[in-house]
Amino acid sequence: MATFQTLPGFREFYPEDLSRRNHIFRLWRQTAGAYGFAEYDAPVLEPLDLYKTKSGDEIEGQLFSFTDKGGREVALRPEMTPTVCRLVGAKASALKRPIKWYSIAEFYRYERMQKGRGRCFFQFNADIFGEPGPEAEIELIALLTQCLCSFGLTEQDFYVRLSDRNLWFYYLEALGLDEARIRAVLGAVDKFEKMGDDAFKAYAEQFGELEAGLKAKVLEFLQIKSLPALEAVLAPIGGEKLAARLGDWRKLLGGLAAMGLERFVEVDLGVVRGLAYYTGFVFEAFDRKGELRALAGGGRYDDLVQKLGGPALPAVGFAIGDMTFALLLEQRGLMPTFVQAPDIYCVIGGEAERRAAFADIQALRAMGYRVDYPLKEVAFGKQFKTASDSGAKLALIYGAEELAKGIVKIRDLGDRTESEVASANVAATVREFFTT
Ligand code: HAM
Repeated sequence: MATFQTLPGFREFYPEDLSRRNHIFRLWRQTAGAYGFAEYDAPVLEPLDLYKTKSGDEIEGQLFSFTDKGGREVALRPEMTPTVCRLVGAKASALKRPIKWYSIAEFYRYERMQKGRGRCFFQFNADIFGEPGPEAEIELIALLTQCLCSFGLTEQDFYVRLSDRNLWFYYLEALGLDEARIRAVLGAVDKFEKMGDDAFKAYAEQFGELEAGLKAKVLEFLQIKSLPALEAVLAPIGGEKLAARLGDWRKLLGGLAAMGLERFVEVDLGVVRGLAYYTGFVFEAFDRKGELRALAGGGRYDDLVQKLGGPALPAVGFAIGDMTFALLLEQRGLMPTFVQAPDIYCVIGGEAERRAAFADIQALRAMGYRVDYPLKEVAFGKQFKTASDSGAKLALIYGAEELAKGIVKIRDLGDRTESEVASANVAATVREFFTT
């Protein structure tokens, strides 16, 4: 017989897996709520055009896309950013500012599979719309940090690398490059960590070899790891634009320091982010040991809402992926084990006793207790074993003898003590047990 398997890179969630996933989502939701973000959702299938040119070549090449029965070119969403821009853009004038939104959703990219990378994965996305200044970045980097710290991770486990595409533009402009060349250099910088010198091949194919002096300056800039070093390199260039931008940097780093978060954040001009729409500050979170791929990534994208047909609306946001994040929690022993235990297990004799038990089971479940019982008649001894193996705190015993006496036996599965209660008082007695 043919056995059907999941498509490569797709995941199934058995109950224990889903418990772990739910645990992650629960804490992300709680944290986003504490930061005043509101949750939204959107379709999984979108018009292909939403991603064409807007997300960038890399994501475009990874789309799961097809033509639907109505002849529309469609794609499974590879990311949330264009979608949330459409949502916000359509109602921008009616929404209270700043707009602070988050979502937890599944995404699809036809990627080469590796540790922490699949073809379907979840992301927690958080974005702020309508705030042009670095106050939005402060809020978002704080939220990102808290989303990881809520699980017990510390600055010894992860850090956020902070960079700035604006500064890269100003710097490369000052070195005499035009916009097309600047974009190609940034493409090389994005890949430099992984590919080394080969990262400049695409630039060379398009524009010829990057002149050695310029390349040295690019390599010097991408190695900058502090604000003073950045200020020193930019000082000879000068100008108002640059001075204002360095002011934004001081505000951002000062705000994060005042929140006590400076230990999580490192200036690192080597990060530029591959996605096409970023316009200003960009950041990525990584595990400290450098063993895993990125935990999260984000940045400012002030032009995208307008490019997608909405009003001019500044925006900044990030996404955390669930796969590398779960790996990190497991590596650090911070992923709890989940047991699905009932509160109460009912041990039941024959058919008549079953009917008596059913009334109580229904009433107790309506009160919110997790109640389980054997679906079919099973020997008493076996039922007692199931009851104690189940992790339940109480067993309710419905035997023929008890039924005849108009009582139910209640056994505390912790200390193994037993008592008898009148049938009519089962619910009240159980409530008393669980509230004292
Ligand atoms: P991204 O860097 O493409 O950014 O993805 C963010 C995170 O999603 C990554 O750091 C990674 O944890 C996870 N991720 C991405 N691709 C995969 C994959 N194939 N398998 C497993 N995990 C993956 C964005 O998607 C931007 N839209 C984020 C953003 C929100 N920017 C502004 N707002």
